[in-house]
Amino acid sequence: MTVDEFRARFPILTRRVYVNSCSQGALSTDVDEAMRAYLESWHESGSPWEMWVDEVERLRERFAASIGAGADEIAVMPSASAGINAVASALSFDGPRSHVVIGDFEFPTMAQVWLAQERRGASIRRAHASGDVLPIDAYAAAIDERTLVVPATHVCFRNGHKTDIAGLAKVAHDRGAYVFLDDYQRTGSGPIDVHALGVDFMVTGCLKYLLAAAGIGFLYVRRDLIERFEPTVTGWFGRVNPFAFRIDALDWPPGANRFETGTPPVPNAYAALAALDLLDRIGYDVVGRQVDHLVERYASAARDAGFVVRTPSDRARRGPLVVVQSVDAPALVAKLAARGIIASCRGNGLRVSFHAYNNDADVDAVISALVAEASLLERATATAR
Ligand SMILES: Cc1ncc(COP(=O)(O)O)c(C=O)c1O
Repeated sequence: MTVDEFRARFPILTRRVYVNSCSQGALSTDVDEAMRAYLESWHESGSPWEMWVDEVERLRERFAASIGAGADEIAVMPSASAGINAVASALSFDGPRSHVVIGDFEFPTMAQVWLAQERRGASIRRAHASGDVLPIDAYAAAIDERTLVVPATHVCFRNGHKTDIAGLAKVAHDRGAYVFLDDYQRTGSGPIDVHALGVDFMVTGCLKYLLAAAGIGFLYVRRDLIERFEPTVTGWFGRVNPFAFRIDALDWPPGANRFETGTPPVPNAYAALAALDLLDRIGYDVVGRQVDHLVERYASAARDAGFVVRTPSDRARRGPLVVVQSVDAPALVAKLAARGIIASCRGNGLRVSFHAYNNDADVDAVISALVAEASLLERATATAR
């Protein structure tokens, strides 16, 4: 499938310039049909649980393959938060390791779940950014022999900075700490090999670059770690055989499904599987190349126009999201919407993010609109440029 064929499957792109995949991926005809197929199965069969649970298992396998993991290393979760909580509940903080090192670029839920562990003995340490850059040295200064886990976002939702996760994993592992990757702002926007990254845990979700709906995500746990953990946030789907309906004992399957809790999000699994099929058809390498090309085109045009680009210019340190500084980003987002461009903001940072369904014309339309609304943009000083 070519990028043009891929683009043709997203009806919104005929009506809007859609550059907000960092918030919600665009809806494809494939996902639309899959959600209808779920409703049809419900209409027709009433309660086809076996079929629905099989769909979730197919999704587990397909997602695992897409990140280079085994299906036994994946838990299907209703959200990234649920995955983080399940792992946090399985850790104890009363031994020699009780520190959690949190960087400045985390999405709130990652910090909040670990802050909630303070009541259980966790102690939060910080890795501080310098402006819009968070070097591994900042983590290295905070990680020591008391560190239990280092949660780290791959791409920051606020400024698009991409952390060197393989480098962080090396520093953390040398000091005996776990690394917990939050890949939500990157998964689906290019290839990923979770084993090569060397992380111990990873969460992500389907509603952004994985192009599906809210209410479903994944937790990856490195195979050799799984059996060390028995979460206290659990439920009947975390059992060896949920359909044994036991209330007399707690058993633990050998796979990462031990981190699951209740009835899986079946409707969302239909959507997610269709989206993963579509991404497989275009291929993650093709997606990654197109995203990289568009990010470069946009970031350099924004810089050339004299705007303040907060996302690093180093290709290795950025993902699919580029943030340009506004003086009033909510007003700018509204002005862009009036011009048919859907983007978003965090603080005064205008977020423009790309998927393989975007093209050069989308980039050029956003840049023209920014030039037209230049009074709402911060200007770079000549030296900073
Ligand atoms: C980096 C990151 N992590 C996590 C989340 C959300 O996680 P949850 O599935 O718990 O809502 C988001 C959503 O915007 C995100 O950007």
